[in-house]
Amino acid sequence: MTLPVFKKHSVPAVLAPMAGISDAVFRRICVEHGCDFTYTEMVSAKGLLYGGRKTRELIRISPFEKPCAVQLFGSDPAIVSDMIRELYDGCGGDIAMFDINMGCPMPKITGNGEGSALMKNVPAAAKLMEACAKASPLPVSCKFRKGWDDSSVNAVEFAKAMEESGAAMVTVHGRTREQFYHGPADRSIIKQVVEAVSIPVLGNGDVFSGESAKAMIEETGCAGVMIARGAEGNPFIFEEVRAALSGLPYVPPTDYMRMTEAIRHAEGFLAEKDPRLFPELRKHMSWYTKGMRGALEFRRGVNTARSPEELLGLLYSFRETLEK
Ligand SMILES: Cc1cc2nc3c(=O)[nH]c(=O)nc-3n(C[C@H](O)[C@H](O)[C@H](O)COP(=O)(O)O)c2cc1C
Repeated sequence: MTLPVFKKHSVPAVLAPMAGISDAVFRRICVEHGCDFTYTEMVSAKGLLYGGRKTRELIRISPFEKPCAVQLFGSDPAIVSDMIRELYDGCGGDIAMFDINMGCPMPKITGNGEGSALMKNVPAAAKLMEACAKASPLPVSCKFRKGWDDSSVNAVEFAKAMEESGAAMVTVHGRTREQFYHGPADRSIIKQVVEAVSIPVLGNGDVFSGESAKAMIEETGCAGVMIARGAEGNPFIFEEVRAALSGLPYVPPTDYMRMTEAIRHAEGFLAEKDPRLFPELRKHMSWYTKGMRGALEFRRGVNTARSPEELLGLLYSFRETLEK
């Protein structure tokens, strides 16, 4: 079976799951810029079970952003696999794959034995993957780290256990849980995983440009690259990566073009989500305008805007100050 992630290009560039960031609006924008595959942010399987409306909103997939995987977190094989089945039955074909989060470092997640805590209990993680792969008519993958800490680096052993338990693909973030997001991502551990398993491996960590995507692929042999922070305020990175992988020149967007994208992002957000949530746009606007002349003052305005209309007004006026 060809995984949906490989449908467009043999070496896909993928948008990472990012809590509070990779919503349907941002995913669609990334797909429009050449992203091959996206993930919802991590969604609690227990939260779905207990029927939270907010939790369900996190897995809304729009028709313009397919293919998209749903990422779940949880540790109870029965609950996570039941939720997979329920989501599949209700999804009308919108979901392309399920991914299980085994890399989240946050104490409120690891404290429940979820996220990267699963790396400390390989048999439990294997049982979870087995139950999910059995229950799911769609491929199931998982995303994990180099290990829990420097004294327990076990990504290779972990990847093998996941493959044996039915994972169709794995993503490796080359940092330990203890590192959170600090220090450089270790590409050598990704290479070791690639060499140890037969299923595709996505390489993740520190891809911030076309060149770094190329380096990730060349140094690790990974089947595709997953990009998280490099896409924040910069959905153009997928065009840059595609150009680098095809050996074509890349012309970066002008500040005006970046701001136009920021406006589309804000308008999409306000049209599709509850406009009262407009403060969530602040961080995105700050990322889009990184390095632009006058950005500091613009951000001050954005951070104190009291309505969606005021925010949009600021975006349009700021764009007029930029060169086309
Ligand atoms: C704000 C933020 C939210 C994240 N949320 C998730 C998540 O929901 N699920 C997940 O598997 N990883 C999550 N991650 C981790 C990223 O997917 C990725 O593994 C990590 O940032 C390393 O990639 P990068 O160097 O390209 O940023 C998150 C990272 C950030 C910065």
